Amino acid sequence: MNRQQLAYFERWAVRYETSPLQRCYFRPVHEAALRHVRRHAPLGARVLDVGCGTGSFLRQARQLLDRPRLYGVDVTSGMVKVAEGIEAARPQGDRAIRFMTATVEQLPFAAESFDVVASTLSFHHWSDQRRGVEEISRVLKPAGLVVLADHFACGWLRPFFATVGKRPMMRTDQEVEAMLWGAGLRTSSWEVAHCLRRLVRQGRGRPRPHVAGPSVPLVFLTTAYGPAAAARCPDQAGTRPSWLTSGDCGQWLP
Ligand SMILES: C[S@@+](CC[C@H](N)C(=O)[O-])C[C@H]1O[C@@H](n2cnc3c(N)ncnc32)[C@H](O)[C@@H]1O
Repeated sequence: MNRQQLAYFERWAVRYETSPLQRCYFRPVHEAALRHVRRHAPLGARVLDVGCGTGSFLRQARQLLDRPRLYGVDVTSGMVKVAEGIEAARPQGDRAIRFMTATVEQLPFAAESFDVVASTLSFHHWSDQRRGVEEISRVLKPAGLVVLADHFACGWLRPFFATVGKRPMMRTDQEVEAMLWGAGLRTSSWEVAHCLRRLVRQGRGRPRPHVAGPSVPLVFLTTAYGPAAAARCPDQAGTRPSWLTSGDCGQWLP
């Protein structure tokens, strides 16, 4: 992320929690990521959210997991300040989330610290994505889970990002997998985490359950495991992505 983008996030931080995008855009992606986290996280799981923004994903994780230990890092100090403020407003015995200003490229944690590392809608901002993935792999326990959701350049988004000049940071599924594999992680699944129909459905005041139209994918999600989990379960050994298992959005995938 360059200085200009950092300044943009610093300005956005104070209004980020009340942005209409929370309901119609960020939250559905968080929900998709949390489905995987919930399935994998053991009792007392240590969960890290990288590029955590104001901490909404972690606050939802707190509701779903059993006695989790939750950590969030973000390069934007304003985002971290808002997240810390929200946490500080809770009763003292109830504060389970720690936030830090740090970059994914240099995570302030010891090796093999986390059962789960998640990141939502942040990856395309990282200054050094390869280094970020290596850092995630370093702090992940050998049987840990990585959940990465972002606007990957797949399906129609690939020519779109190329046209608007965004392609270098918007990685294809193959590029993301190559990075994950290069860092010792094994991709397990791919899915569409958010699509246009759902965005429209949730965009107005209250959810509208019957919006017709195609499920054009907007956000994709991949899961990957540390080497120990991959060795134990053959279906987590990292074959090609199971693209066409992504429900009604599958028709749009390459
Ligand atoms: C669109 S926001 C998403 C925030 C949050 N994950 C969510 O889903 O609401 C992207 C966030 O990624 C953070 N970010 C960008 N590059 C980063 C990096 N290299 N290391 C840590 N955080 C980063 C930004 O500061 C910003 O808060």
